[in-house]
Amino acid sequence: MAVLLPGGAGFIGSHTAVELLNAGKEIIIIDNFSNSKPEVLESIKKITGKDFKFYEMDYLDEEKLENVFEENNIEAVLNFAGFKAVGESVKKPIEYYKNNISGALVLLETMKKHNVKKFIFSSSATVYGEPEKVPITEEFKTGGTTNPYGTTKLFIEQILKDIYASDNSWDICILRYFNPVGAHESGLIGEEPQGIPNNLMPYIVRVANGELKELSVFGNDYNTPDGTGVRDYIHVVDLAKGHVKALEKLDREQKGLYIYNLGTGKGYSVLDMVKAFEKATGKKVPYKIAPRREGDIATCYAEPKKAKEELGWQAEKTLEDMCKDSWNYISRKGENDDKL
Ligand code: UFG
Repeated sequence: MAVLLPGGAGFIGSHTAVELLNAGKEIIIIDNFSNSKPEVLESIKKITGKDFKFYEMDYLDEEKLENVFEENNIEAVLNFAGFKAVGESVKKPIEYYKNNISGALVLLETMKKHNVKKFIFSSSATVYGEPEKVPITEEFKTGGTTNPYGTTKLFIEQILKDIYASDNSWDICILRYFNPVGAHESGLIGEEPQGIPNNLMPYIVRVANGELKELSVFGNDYNTPDGTGVRDYIHVVDLAKGHVKALEKLDREQKGLYIYNLGTGKGYSVLDMVKAFEKATGKKVPYKIAPRREGDIATCYAEPKKAKEELGWQAEKTLEDMCKDSWNYISRKGENDDKL
C-alpha cells in the first residue's frame, strides 16, 4: 500500500517524502516540476537511502492520474501540488483557482472512483483572515481571505467538509500551516523560490549571500512589541513530521474530518528574525524600514495544543535551527552551482 504525493518534489512535499520514507512508508510522487527540479528526487533518495516510484505529470491530467491509481495500490493521498505565491495569485486568479481547486477536485474524484478515501490537505493559517486575538485555535472562524491563493485554501476546506458530510466513510485531515521555513539539515533539499522571493526567510538568505542588497521591513508601526509583523515560523522538518503523525492518526482512529494547526505557538517579529539569523550564521542582514505591505496583518501565531494532544506532535526545532538550515541550504547550493 502506498501513499501518493502530488507535488512531492516541492518544498514541503519533498521534506514530507523524506519523513514518510524514514517512517517506513511506501510513497509515490507525481510532479510536473512547475516549481521544483528533478534533482530533488535524487536528493530524497540520497537522504533516505530508499527508492520510490515517480510520475512526471500534471495532477490535473485525469487520464494519467487514472493510470496512476490503476497501476498502484494507493491507500492515502497527501496533496502538495498547490500554487502558493500570494502576490502572483492576485495577478493570476484563474491559474490559481484552476490549479488548486480543479486539481483538488480531479484528485478527489479519482480517489472516490478507486475507493481511496484518506486525504491530507495542506491548508494555511491564511484561512483565519485577520484573527480577533492570538494564539489562534482551530475553532476560530475562518474567512476574510485577502487574495486568491488564500481563498483557494478556504474553498478546498469547504469542499472537503461537504464531501465528508455527504459520505462519512472519508477520512480527512486538514493541516493549517503557519510560516514554514528552514531546510533539511543535510542541505540537500530546501526552498528555492523562482525570482525575487516574497517571503521573509528566503529574502533574508539572499540578502545575507549578497544576491540582494537589503531587506525591506514592511512596516514598523504595527501594534507589536517592536512595531514589525509577528509570525509563527515553523521548521519544515517539524511540519513534515506533522504529516506523518496525521497519517498515523487516520490509520489509527475512527474515520472523521480532523483539523489541526501546525505551528510552534511562538511569535517572532521581522526584526527578531533578522537578529536571530545574524546570530546563527554570523552574516549581516542590512535592512531598511519600508511601508506596510498590502494585505499583511500585525500578528499571527498558533495555539498548537490540539495537535499535541491528538496527534502526539509538537515542533521541536529552534529558531536557530531554522536560520542555520535555511542558510546551509542556500550557501551549499551556491558552492555547488559555482562548480558547474
Ligand atoms: N516581510 C518583510 N519583508 C519582506 C518579506 C516579508 O518585512 O521582504 C514581513 C511581512 O510583512 C510579515 C512577515 O515578514 O510581517 C512574514 O511575511 P511572509 O511573506 O514570509 O509570510 P506571510 O505571513 O505574509 O505569509 C505566509 C505564507 C502564506 C500564508 C501565510 C499564512 O507565505 O502562504 O503565511 O498566514 F498564507
